[in-house]
Amino acid sequence: MKKFNHLKASVFGFNFVLLQRFFKKVMEVVKTVTELREKLSAVRKDGKKVGFVPTMGALHNGHLSLVKRCVSENDVCVVSVFVNPTQFNDKNDLLKYPRTVDADVKVLASAGCSFAFVPEVEDIYPEEDTRVFDFGKVDKVMEGKYRPGHFNGVAQVVSRLFDIVEPDRAYFGEKDFQQIAVIRAMVAQLGYNVEIVACPIVREADGLALSSRNARLSDEQRKLAVKISETLFKSRTFADQNSVADTISFVTDTLNGISGLQVEYYEIVDGNTLQPIRSWNETSYAVGCITVYCGDVRLIDNIKY
Ligand code: PAF
Repeated sequence: MKKFNHLKASVFGFNFVLLQRFFKKVMEVVKTVTELREKLSAVRKDGKKVGFVPTMGALHNGHLSLVKRCVSENDVCVVSVFVNPTQFNDKNDLLKYPRTVDADVKVLASAGCSFAFVPEVEDIYPEEDTRVFDFGKVDKVMEGKYRPGHFNGVAQVVSRLFDIVEPDRAYFGEKDFQQIAVIRAMVAQLGYNVEIVACPIVREADGLALSSRNARLSDEQRKLAVKISETLFKSRTFADQNSVADTISFVTDTLNGISGLQVEYYEIVDGNTLQPIRSWNETSYAVGCITVYCGDVRLIDNIKY
């Protein structure tokens, strides 16, 4: 095997590893805001388009789908890995959030990312961010109601990251359906010149929406968690013959009837305004958004009707 590697590295006098590095963009891991700004200003001078995927790490195939799309649509792809303390209204949740930076960096390098941005909290928030946002109705319902302060923290960090990266496009997963609406509202309010690209939910083969929090599920809980997407899919057929209110009851009662699952909320909303609908003919874009506790793991998912 050693012999083969040696051959591979030096056939015809070429060092293949160096050649590979020359032709393939090699990802850089950047740890400070100053360094990233310098690198990106050089990139922009060449007129290159910058795509950006903000993440909190613990990367899975859902994140990878965003990164791959970002790589394919831009000259340069920046991915941030930063667990943002200001968006956790529950300190325990922040402590338990999975952190796998070394593995994340490897995954990003093989996905073709150009810069993995891995800052410290002090670099993103050199002083406390005291901004308070108000995005009208979109940040008050659902997650906004059950996780007070959460979207304010998301807006703080995403605006801070947009100021640093100044992306042409930014990619977000539709699993966090309400988050995308809040970010669009933030972009409009603060006047950012960035295209927000919403990417479809990526699911496990059995239907469970991919989430970094899935890593916290025990084997037993993992079996229960699949009931969430299973019930949402079934509710589509149910909705064909039934009212919005009955569809909400169908989903809530089915899941609450399973020991180990507890629905926090299930709401069917207009996908643009995020306001609850009472009848199917109020909108052609009805989306059901759910949060379910599986033991102490808080899972979210959504479905279009
Ligand atoms: O969706 C997430 O992982 C986070 O809310 C985000 C957008 C990276 C901000 O911390």
